[in-house]
Amino acid sequence: MKSGLGSISVIGMGYVGLCTATAFASKGFRTVGIDIDEKKIEQIQHGIAPLYEPQLDGVLKKAVKKKLLVATSDISQAVNTSSTFLTVGTPSRSDGSIDLSYVEKATGELGTALRQKKSYHLVIVKSTVVPGTTRKTVRPILARSSSKNIGTDLGLCSNPEFLKEGTAIDDALHPDKIVIGSDDEKSSRMLKQLYTRFYGRNLPPIILTNPETAELVKYASNAFLATKISFINTIANIAQEIPGVDVNQVAEAIGHDPRIGPLFLKAGPGYGGSCFHKDIEALINFSEDFGYSPILLRATEETNVRQAGRVVELAEKLTGSLQGKKIAVLGIAFKKDTDDIREAASLRVINLLLKKGARVTTYDPMAIPNARKVISENVEFAADERSALNGADCCIVMTEWNQFRRLRAKDYQAHMHTSSLVDARKLYDPKDYGTLNFTAIGLGPNQ
Ligand code: UGA
Repeated sequence: MKSGLGSISVIGMGYVGLCTATAFASKGFRTVGIDIDEKKIEQIQHGIAPLYEPQLDGVLKKAVKKKLLVATSDISQAVNTSSTFLTVGTPSRSDGSIDLSYVEKATGELGTALRQKKSYHLVIVKSTVVPGTTRKTVRPILARSSSKNIGTDLGLCSNPEFLKEGTAIDDALHPDKIVIGSDDEKSSRMLKQLYTRFYGRNLPPIILTNPETAELVKYASNAFLATKISFINTIANIAQEIPGVDVNQVAEAIGHDPRIGPLFLKAGPGYGGSCFHKDIEALINFSEDFGYSPILLRATEETNVRQAGRVVELAEKLTGSLQGKKIAVLGIAFKKDTDDIREAASLRVINLLLKKGARVTTYDPMAIPNARKVISENVEFAADERSALNGADCCIVMTEWNQFRRLRAKDYQAHMHTSSLVDARKLYDPKDYGTLNFTAIGLGPNQ
């Protein structure tokens, strides 16, 4: 077991916090995971992840068994570690602006707990927060609640997180960069040392900067990725009108240009997930507060919302009026290998289908329990993909699950009333589905 620099605490056992804590513990760091949700804490104490993430269960179980990861709802346990990561949620308010109340509350409670501590303690803001939050919100609350001097008694850094759901553990173990924003050299040096111990020879590039730059890096990263998706979806919508064109080939070709790059150019039904929409709205709101309107980011969002309408139009093109038609929607999760449906394009598509009078049956390998909580009671949930197809007039593939990829043209034909298929994820080679009434996002009509 490592000591000194090696003991850390993480406040907020959500997605980022739990994966960060588990990754640190897996490398031998004594780690304390803290959350106000007793149920979550109890699950973690038993080595059970309260959320689905491939690899997480196994690594978590091992770390808890070795007593390297301890979970508690008692924030004062953070005092016995040398550094505390804040990873509480930063949801949106109804106007899209960022809600910092969890950050403020956790900072105040941590500061109060640190009052009695004699030695130096490093506080690291890992939650996604708008530029200026670490300096103007966290710093004064921490100073007040702890009665300590920031910079001498306590260290403070901004250190955004870039994990992706579905590959979070791997991302935590192999990040492409680490961004550290701080005003004082001691804080950034200590965090750099912590990461040097964590990654050893595999230490990724570290960007040392001030807190505001670090905070903006996170928003710039998500806004760029989302814009890349809205861009390729725009090209897809144009390609769709040109006989013989497939956007996949366009994306492949432009991706060879190193200035563009091949990743994140997969056309589809629009991005989802807990971060892109929330973060872009927060950045827009933040910019408008000082009088700048970032129209590019508005267009990214607007393009994304409208993409759901494009998917439904494709179904109408194949099927005609959707009134009374049975539509099978395959996939609800915002991407494969997760049960997360937050901001999923499937929800937008299902709502539009219902508005047009369609009867909707849907299936997802993991997301049905979450979907049942938010989807209209008029939607039917099927037991598997084949039963979702039974008697359907049209099927829309919304999530790129591997098991949907394995469905052949004959499977669709065998179950559906009329075998019309909209491939909104571009899972299938159009050549192999020619016996169906088939179309896909970004696929022009046959020549
Ligand atoms: C995203 C970022 O990729 C992470 O770097 C970031 O840390 C995270 O948000 C966050 O801020 O917490 P995540 O939400 O897990 O990660 O999802 P992504 O894998 O980025 O996918 C987002 C959406 O874009 C999905 O709906 C996906 O299907 C869609 N997408 C992605 C496309 O439609 N096309 C693509 O080429 C790539």
